Amino acid sequence: MTFDRSIKIAPSILSADFANFGQEIRAIEAQGCDWVHVDVMDGHFVPNLTFGPPLVKAIRPHVKTVMDVHLMIAPVDPYIDAFAEAGSDVITAHLEAGPHIHRTLQAIRAAGCKAGLALNPGTGIEDVEYLLDMVDLVCVMTVNPGFGGQKFIHSQVEKVRRLREMIGDRPIHIEIDGGITPETAPLMAEAGADVLVAGSAVFKGGSVDNPAPYGENIRAIRSAAEAAQPGA
Ligand code: DX5
Ligand code: ZN
Repeated sequence: MTFDRSIKIAPSILSADFANFGQEIRAIEAQGCDWVHVDVMDGHFVPNLTFGPPLVKAIRPHVKTVMDVHLMIAPVDPYIDAFAEAGSDVITAHLEAGPHIHRTLQAIRAAGCKAGLALNPGTGIEDVEYLLDMVDLVCVMTVNPGFGGQKFIHSQVEKVRRLREMIGDRPIHIEIDGGITPETAPLMAEAGADVLVAGSAVFKGGSVDNPAPYGENIRAIRSAAEAAQPGA
């Protein structure tokens, strides 16, 4: 994984056919996505349950791009090695998931993965300052985590703008997650985000038997975002 600030589209397989993950991943990659976003939920930190390390390991051979694993679980630390061994490229943990996020980020890097830090919509960016040397990505949640298909929370645009200033020249991605569409993506690209997670807006209208809409959806989000990126 080399670092750059080009727009990267990361479809969330939360909106894929759960009985067909391998084919769905091959379809979105063939249709031009950059990363594959994997939402792990525990029914405790968030009010929904998805899947654990064995499933992440099973889908790994199908992912040729970047496997971006978003852990919405508490506690996190006991599971880091299992998700690393499952083949995660990026492991993102929530600032709100426990009292020792510094230790968690250290453990993610020690396990050989890029370290991501996720912030819920109600969390400020002040606590990110002393973690900047330990993160490869900050994920700004633009919905309350737990479900796909929710409405974008506009107050997060300003948060991304301030975070982008704080990051300066450091090689840290800003990822946004939730409610991203061709309408909301440019607001965030303009503010400084480069990794755009989208579930429902990528998978809508398509299927493994009819994957062309995935490509159209990915291109619509990408071109809207690229046109709004600073310097574009
Ligand atoms: C929300 C997840 C998101 C979600 C995005 O808890 O972290 O990745 O799947 O879905 P959409 O794009 O439908 O809001
Ligand atoms: Zn996510």
